[in-house]
Amino acid sequence: MTSLMKAELQKEFLKLFAAKPEHIFFCPGRVNLIGEHIDYNGGKVMPCAISLGTFLAVARNSDKLFRFRSLDFPETADLRLQASYSKTGKEWFNYPLGIIDQLLKEDHIVSGLDMLFYGNLPVGAGLSSSASIEVLTAFAIQTIFQLNISNPDIALLSKRVENEFIGVNCGIMDQFAVAMGRADKAILLNCDTLEYEYLPFQTGDYSLAIINSNKQRALAESKYNERFTECGAALKSLKKKLKVENLCDVDIPAFQAHRHLINDPVLEKRALHVISENERVKEAREVLSAGNLKRFGELMYASHESLKELYEVSGKELDAIVDFCKTYPGCIGARMTGAGFGGCAIALVKKDQFDDFSRQLTAYYQNKIGYDPGVFASAIGDGVRSL
Ligand code: GLA
Repeated sequence: MTSLMKAELQKEFLKLFAAKPEHIFFCPGRVNLIGEHIDYNGGKVMPCAISLGTFLAVARNSDKLFRFRSLDFPETADLRLQASYSKTGKEWFNYPLGIIDQLLKEDHIVSGLDMLFYGNLPVGAGLSSSASIEVLTAFAIQTIFQLNISNPDIALLSKRVENEFIGVNCGIMDQFAVAMGRADKAILLNCDTLEYEYLPFQTGDYSLAIINSNKQRALAESKYNERFTECGAALKSLKKKLKVENLCDVDIPAFQAHRHLINDPVLEKRALHVISENERVKEAREVLSAGNLKRFGELMYASHESLKELYEVSGKELDAIVDFCKTYPGCIGARMTGAGFGGCAIALVKKDQFDDFSRQLTAYYQNKIGYDPGVFASAIGDGVRSL
């Protein structure tokens, strides 16, 4: 697959730019196993990189031009090398452009670049196609110009681009996961300190299923920023009495004793999700280390319930998937993953029942929602790399 892709990209690059690419890079997407909507609250998350992602064929040019091409989108851009850029419209090339803008400001780029992108991640499905293209571009530039930027620093730079250039207040989880992923490992990341450890994600007789609701995440950006603001407001109220930096520094007893300070039922619900989700991640680490996949699955269901009822970022499509999973005997856990409002769910499904699970879920979802979901088993792969 990868070598096929490489040959295809080389061929297309040659056609477009009449030269061979100097390098080809790949950066995966991610799923988050547990710890949702808490990275921007200083919590612990447990993402892993998947096998689908974004490819980039690239070569330097002497024309002082950044040429952006994609095999997925018709829009192209040829931009003269200048001191800085700002976002233009909603086109895909804003993501690599934001990275270039950052690296130019730090005097790291000294020539134009011809770039051809291709992605096999479903766009807008919540598998971090944007973090994938950002980290990919930064990693490529750091390799070409030998910048010596570490992968965690590439993740931080990419997050800054998403926050300041693109305008989404996301946390560090996605960029970190795709920059630092490892095959067959989940990353336990403390989003406050950026300390991390790799946990073996051994699923034994089970497969990790990714189920794309195929619901476009239309309101995702504005709702996401709304949740970010709500968490800030809840924290501000709790800080009147509690000496904390982040919502995730508060434990459940402290929250129960001080929730009256928030004095707003919606904000209380948001805070309760954040705090209880962080506790679930801590338990998830313990049960994974002990090989107790069944309990891990129960925590996934509990996480979904909290995202649905308290944080209100699920939706009828994702709920239908999780409802079905609860009734299916070969499934031990499921939840929405990523920002929500559509996008994907994940589930742990008995390997020898996967095909039946996929068939039955598709029929159930089609009947309830009116169109098909996408169901596939995913490997847990490595992070960004040169091919
Ligand atoms: C999106 C953001 C992440 C994280 C998740 C929710 O994927 O980019 O930073 O907040 O949503 O957990």
